[in-house]
Amino acid sequence: MTQYRLQVNSRAHTVDVDASMPLLWVLRDVLELTGTKYGCGMAQCGACTVHLDGKAVRSCVTPVSAVGSQSVTTIEGLSPDGRHPLQLAWQELDVPQCGYCQAGQIMTAAAFLAQQAAPSDDAITQAMSGNLCRCGTYSRIHRAIKRAAGMSQS
Ligand code: FES
Repeated sequence: MTQYRLQVNSRAHTVDVDASMPLLWVLRDVLELTGTKYGCGMAQCGACTVHLDGKAVRSCVTPVSAVGSQSVTTIEGLSPDGRHPLQLAWQELDVPQCGYCQAGQIMTAAAFLAQQAAPSDDAITQAMSGNLCRCGTYSRIHRAIKRAAGMSQS
């Protein structure tokens, strides 16, 4: 076991875990931040997406030892009050079905919009292509991203 000092959602935490423990399990099982979901465990589905210094990463394949001083943001920390433009658009367009994939979808979209404020349809499709949704909410996700970017009223 090794001690790691992590900055998660603007709060400092010290965790005592194995160096190879994926960040996903540190977040969920040690810090009890269960908004981040386990999907495939192989970086293939996107359900576990969080931000490291604002960049979207797959926490299921990111060992805690690789986090270092980077700040971790999870869905719980995306906004102080759940009113990030993407979260509002998600609610307005009633995007989720079962909901399982949605935290990862929003975290991927948030990192993307932070880089591209007014993306094309193709760029949205490309950016979101690694996040799977077994319920098939893709068209609502796409519309919600456009709404959050202020590009669509629909
Ligand atoms: Fe069910 Fe996406 S809403 S997996």
